[in-house]
Amino acid sequence: KINVLLRINPGVEAHTHQFIVTAHVDSKFGILKSDTETIRSIIDTIESNEALSFQGFHAHIGSQIFDKNAFRAEIETMGSFIKEMIDKTGRSFPALDLGGGFAAVYTKEDAPIPIDEVCALLIDQCSLINEKYDLHLKRLMIEPGRSIVAEAGSTLYTVGFTKITPHKKYVFVDGGMSDNIRPALYQAAYDADLTNRMNDKKTETVCIAGKCCESGDVLIEKTDLPCAVTGDQLIVYTTGAYGYSMASRYNMLCVPAVVFVKNGRSSLVVRRQSFEDLIERDEGDIL
Ligand SMILES: Cc1ncc(COP(=O)(O)O)c(C=O)c1O
Repeated sequence: KINVLLRINPGVEAHTHQFIVTAHVDSKFGILKSDTETIRSIIDTIESNEALSFQGFHAHIGSQIFDKNAFRAEIETMGSFIKEMIDKTGRSFPALDLGGGFAAVYTKEDAPIPIDEVCALLIDQCSLINEKYDLHLKRLMIEPGRSIVAEAGSTLYTVGFTKITPHKKYVFVDGGMSDNIRPALYQAAYDADLTNRMNDKKTETVCIAGKCCESGDVLIEKTDLPCAVTGDQLIVYTTGAYGYSMASRYNMLCVPAVVFVKNGRSSLVVRRQSFEDLIERDEGDIL
């Protein structure tokens, strides 16, 4: 049988540094916890299918969670919800999946809760609700996303040219939103250095812009660098998650190669996309 969990919107949002209880009830994700009739009927539908086995509930309240109270709020809310569903359905729900949200360090400002502290907190809080609401939970699941790989990856760019406007200095690079959509999509922040000038003083605050035909194609709005010139190599840190996996062929730019590096050795794990790759599915005949 295939085990099934149902994603619930617990009304706890932690998409920003501050978690907000009862926020974002209109989220496209999950079924609102108060919609118990719909939830009950979905469980019945799953249980009536002999290939499926309903195991319990799932929630994911956001990413880059820096505040332990957000996890506490999620667990308390899910605990009282599961209790309500046990009372309403007479069933037991052995599994609880708390999603992800374990943060990575993107910039110097980011101070994630150490992963062992997060885990201890989740286990302690789940033990508390298990006892408090008599839930009989048997399985606790998490979905650690970026915290596993984000910091392991960096992206290397070559500086093309620079441009000074009345209020800014742009440093243009040979990539952009096509290899990292996060800054354009939701103003994600990153840190950078010039790898060939690591010992030079950072004398300028610049804006790192990509080569896509969008004003929003900015990789870093403000970062301090030595005076960058054509040919310098720029490294943007913490691109190991949601970088390559969300890369696109925007403006028909080729997706860069992925190289693993360890102990002075390197290995090409994803070859650079070629122009031939980009047009391989184009048909030649014109009607
Ligand atoms: C359902 C679900 N679980 C886990 C994750 C992982 O999130 P993060 O990488 O922010 O920890 C995501 C990310 O979007 C998600 O949608």
